[in-house]
Amino acid sequence: MSTSKTRREFLGDAAGITAATLVAARGFAAVHAGGGDEIKIALVGCGGRGSGAAVDALSVQRGPVRLVAMADPFEDRLAASYKALTEELGGGSEKGLDVPQDRRFVGFDAYKHAMDCLGPGDVVILATPPAFRWVHFTYAIEKGLNVFMEKPVSVDGPSSRRMLDLAERAGQKGLKVAVGLMSRHSRALQELAQRVQAGELGEIISQHGYRMQGPIVNFRSLPKPKEVGELEYQIRRFHSFLWASGGAYNDFFIHIIDQLCWMKGAWPEKAQALGGRHYRSRADGVPYVDQNFDSYAVEYTYADGTKMMFNGRNIEGCQERFLSYMHGTKGSAIVSANGDCGTPSSIHTRRNLGADSIVWQSKVPAGQENPYRNEWNDFIGAIRDNVAYNEAKRGIEASLVCNMGRMAAHTGREITFRQMLECKHEFAPGIAEFTKDSAAPVVSDATGRYPVPQPGILTDREY
Ligand SMILES: NC(=O)c1ccc[n+]([C@@H]2O[C@H](COP(=O)([O-])OP(=O)(O)OC[C@H]3O[C@@H](n4cnc5c(N)ncnc54)[C@H](O)[C@@H]3O)[C@@H](O)[C@H]2O)c1
Repeated sequence: MSTSKTRREFLGDAAGITAATLVAARGFAAVHAGGGDEIKIALVGCGGRGSGAAVDALSVQRGPVRLVAMADPFEDRLAASYKALTEELGGGSEKGLDVPQDRRFVGFDAYKHAMDCLGPGDVVILATPPAFRWVHFTYAIEKGLNVFMEKPVSVDGPSSRRMLDLAERAGQKGLKVAVGLMSRHSRALQELAQRVQAGELGEIISQHGYRMQGPIVNFRSLPKPKEVGELEYQIRRFHSFLWASGGAYNDFFIHIIDQLCWMKGAWPEKAQALGGRHYRSRADGVPYVDQNFDSYAVEYTYADGTKMMFNGRNIEGCQERFLSYMHGTKGSAIVSANGDCGTPSSIHTRRNLGADSIVWQSKVPAGQENPYRNEWNDFIGAIRDNVAYNEAKRGIEASLVCNMGRMAAHTGREITFRQMLECKHEFAPGIAEFTKDSAAPVVSDATGRYPVPQPGILTDREY
């Protein structure tokens, strides 16, 4: 019997949660203490982040880990990812990249074939546009797989409710679930969170987050070229479509919003927001047809009345600002100094946050500077040691907080967390059955424009 088969048997037992399981699990942990057993990985969604996550997976401290299957609806995406992985890793199977042609799956059902190459205890990476998360998570749980899923994990009320049920089911089966909110694995932010919890800032009285930048990735889209299929166009440009991604709001802003909630130790109860689109066409008059606003200003309110203010912008030529900070009754703190979770984090005696008022500044241990690597080391460590590890619920709640702020801006109404969770508007009904010939969830008008939010006119749905 191979050692990996032995591992599977132990993990298979663990799903049943019996007393014998716990003994078996301890035995399993001992087997893995020296890192002598292999974890197989499948990649579903072979784009930029999925490929990056695969490299992070293959770089964990407690290997061995091997990438054995890849899945994507589009052949060119899969081929580009495989090529990039080969270059980045500097080799193929000897570097853990063991995906021969017959384990590279193309199509909307490719995810099933890729996961069928794994066994219980192995890991699937879900790095598709978020709309597909619940579909793929459902199958992974059925197969008894551990899951690394990218943020955001839900885009509307119905998919959030479904994901919450799935998160619980994964927990009941003893599966390990990681969510790609890598800030949570930044050692600097972790120490700051501990210090905040210990009362070093006193009571938090306001929080401020910014992601003001130019139009990145597929924030905006021009009319679909005739030769490209409608569904394919919307999936490839998923940041432009609310059904696919939750829009630029969810995709770009979630890290800063999530980390401020983490520091506060709560999710906000409600949001009110402003938003709009200044530029709806290119300089030559060709329309931008996507569903995004280019500016969002959101006031989130926690149960104790504290406000978190978030400003997001995607316009070139404006001043850029991408960071977060907060004020307490005893001091203030820079959470992310620059970008999603840039160091150093710091605590200050005064609200001006200048260098002259610093009382603590983060120092990250050598080798733990990269939160993307940390999240994988933490996740694989939990699998090896068989300790509970399920980030799904908090990932869904962070996604819901984004949905709530976005819907407040898009409707022009105050939206509560509960209203968002209970919202009935399902953006992509039937997505589990999509094939390449399926109708796309939104339809353009004669000019190629897709429906956009109309605050004050459409108030119980976003478009
Ligand atoms: N944590 C981070 O910092 C971070 C950074 C970038 C992206 N992300 C997240 O990662 C996810 C992917 O983003 P990306 O930038 O890699 O986008 P991308 O477009 O580069 O990659 C997405 C890939 O998924 C594929 N895909 C689409 N539908 C699929 C389906 N049904 N089944 C299988 N594959 C499918 C696409 O063809 C594409 O290759 C998003 O949720 C995004 O928010 C996270």
